Amino acid sequence: MLRFKSAGRGRGYTALRGGVESILRVAYAGGWPAALWGRTPLARVGITRHTLPLLPEGAPPLRVGFVSDLHLGPTTPSRLVDEAFAHLAGARLDVLLLGGDYVFLDTSAAKERELAARVGTIASVTKLAVMGNHDLWTAHDGLERALREGGAQVLTNACVTLPAPHGRVAVVGLDEPWTGRLDAPAAFRGAGDADALIVLCHSPDGLPDAARALARLPRRPEALFVCGHTHGGHVATPWGPLIVPGRVGKRFPCGLFDADAADGMTLFVSRGVGGVELPIRTFARPEIAVLDLVARPAC
Ligand SMILES: [Fe+2]
Repeated sequence: MLRFKSAGRGRGYTALRGGVESILRVAYAGGWPAALWGRTPLARVGITRHTLPLLPEGAPPLRVGFVSDLHLGPTTPSRLVDEAFAHLAGARLDVLLLGGDYVFLDTSAAKERELAARVGTIASVTKLAVMGNHDLWTAHDGLERALREGGAQVLTNACVTLPAPHGRVAVVGLDEPWTGRLDAPAAFRGAGDADALIVLCHSPDGLPDAARALARLPRRPEALFVCGHTHGGHVATPWGPLIVPGRVGKRFPCGLFDADAADGMTLFVSRGVGGVELPIRTFARPEIAVLDLVARPAC
């Protein structure tokens, strides 16, 4: 079936993109690319761990799990998704953050059932999600419903304070910068009382808006910006990525960057998990992240 327009509210879905996706829906039918990639040693998910002293003195440690760019669809081996959620389930998290791009190509009832079930396996934690560009290009209502069924709250330019004993920390969820309607001033409303902020956004391209909104808060908290989208270049070389999407993504293709380098916020850009047009990754190993936020040392 040919489709040249976005089926969701996402902007930036060109006729060319629609044509390519229409061809890929046929060419990748049955999920044979995922099956091939799944048979290679490259189909493994690593755990990236960082300890970040961003919390106020006396605050209890907060363990944050982050998974992004699952891309359920014909180019993502289920083995990758199995491993990602097994790592998360074993990590004893306080908070699970989901960074968007849950699917590649159209959503479907099967993908939504899988997403709800996978997210639901991570029990007894606060689960917060934002949407990615691929989600907004399809019928994203079903994906948002699936996330809620799995126990996650979807944040679209909104802020929530974490439950006790982490009530000094707030999470700001930004809409997707390229295809959605990012509204950082609205998202940061309610963040002013927090001692530490986690900004969750699909793409690093939300960083400049978030930095401006952060600077306008009357009392500036420590902040961590967490995102995916870049896939670390997806098909990269030992010397670095060849192509990285987005203006800010080119500066920060993947990894951890300190606040001095990244507009005043500690920045973590995940390579994510799944596959898109090219059903393989090189030198951009799939990953989930476990970020331990701890109190800053006393001066
Ligand atoms: Fe992605």
